[in-house]
Amino acid sequence: MTAADRAAALFAEKHGGASSAVWSAPGRVNLIGEHTDYNDGFVLPFALPHRTTVAIGPRTDRQLSVATLGSDGHLHDGPVVAIDELRPGNPTGWAAYPAGVAWALRDTGFELGGANLMIVGQVPTGAGLSSSHALECAVALALLNTVHHAPGEPGAPSLGEIARLVQRAENDFAGAPTGLLDQTASLACTEAHVLFFDVRTGDAEQIPFDPRSVGLELLVIDTRVKHSHSESGYGQRRRGCERAAELLELKALRDVASDDLAATLAKLPEDLRPLVRHVVTENDRVRATVDQLRAGRYAEIGPLLTASHVSLRDDYRVSSPELNLAVDTALDTGALGARMIGGGFGGSAIALVPVADRDRVEHAVRDAFERQHLAAPRLFTAVPSAGAGRDR
Ligand code: GLA
Repeated sequence: MTAADRAAALFAEKHGGASSAVWSAPGRVNLIGEHTDYNDGFVLPFALPHRTTVAIGPRTDRQLSVATLGSDGHLHDGPVVAIDELRPGNPTGWAAYPAGVAWALRDTGFELGGANLMIVGQVPTGAGLSSSHALECAVALALLNTVHHAPGEPGAPSLGEIARLVQRAENDFAGAPTGLLDQTASLACTEAHVLFFDVRTGDAEQIPFDPRSVGLELLVIDTRVKHSHSESGYGQRRRGCERAAELLELKALRDVASDDLAATLAKLPEDLRPLVRHVVTENDRVRATVDQLRAGRYAEIGPLLTASHVSLRDDYRVSSPELNLAVDTALDTGALGARMIGGGFGGSAIALVPVADRDRVEHAVRDAFERQHLAAPRLFTAVPSAGAGRDR
């Protein structure tokens, strides 16, 4: 049974009638370009095959009901809330993600009549693979569909506008000060491509990315560890970047020229210098990666991935011992490059490995974690997949 069939069947069971549509949206891997999005910079994500699926049926009483199939195999009923009473803090918990999207849509002027939502999530949670954005994006498209403004319908907002709506839900309702990377990836990525996205201009280019065509695989290593300071650490880095831009009298760190980096750093207090160095060099690494991919030289991106990790570890200081262990072990056993991905402080790393070395790398990582008495990591090969869309 597909996730769409499952969501539709659970919807029918709970609500006693058929859903009007099923939408889904994927989690993501960011190949490179970390902590650059909220600095108006460049990112290079692709969509995972893991998706969150939402069956929806419209209501006319301006109520929103949410339910989800838990990883325990049981149905979890969320609250039923009046669309007009949605505000940050009501509701809380996991329901804040779908409710926040309804709130952002309502606030933007969409006349939502109410809806029943049945959610089936397959994106690993807490793994830094953007499960919350997959949920929010699927809900956004499903709710827009109830007011005839889903992509493809006349007068529909653009994917960029939907990404900003979802960002509002995440920032102002769920209270996470994140950038535009994850929503854009979930909405706009396409199969067998990475998305070269310029956050400032909104320019997006699909670049073919099929590592298997040259005998390589991109391995995801979910450390299954999320450190408690991840949220405060993220906000603190973000504020540091904004402060540096302000001191430099620039709109954002995107505007620091890399050939001027040493002179620029010298103007800043010491504690802000590593943050700026990371952002500026990371934007350069994204552009260098794009150049290699355009030329089909996939193996050449390995050192860029590793340099990104070193910069995130030593300058931006958002890695963790488990992420470093995953990256170092992969590099020691045949990976051409490896790095932590996402916000950091836990979650996942990626490693670019020759197909012939894949199993060796996997075993070495598993052994290394076991030797350090860490929870068993989850490993899988990431295949660039389709972005959000309607399933039925
Ligand atoms: C998280 C945020 C993104 C981005 C990354 C770091 O995934 O949601 O907006 O800032 O961290 O690149």
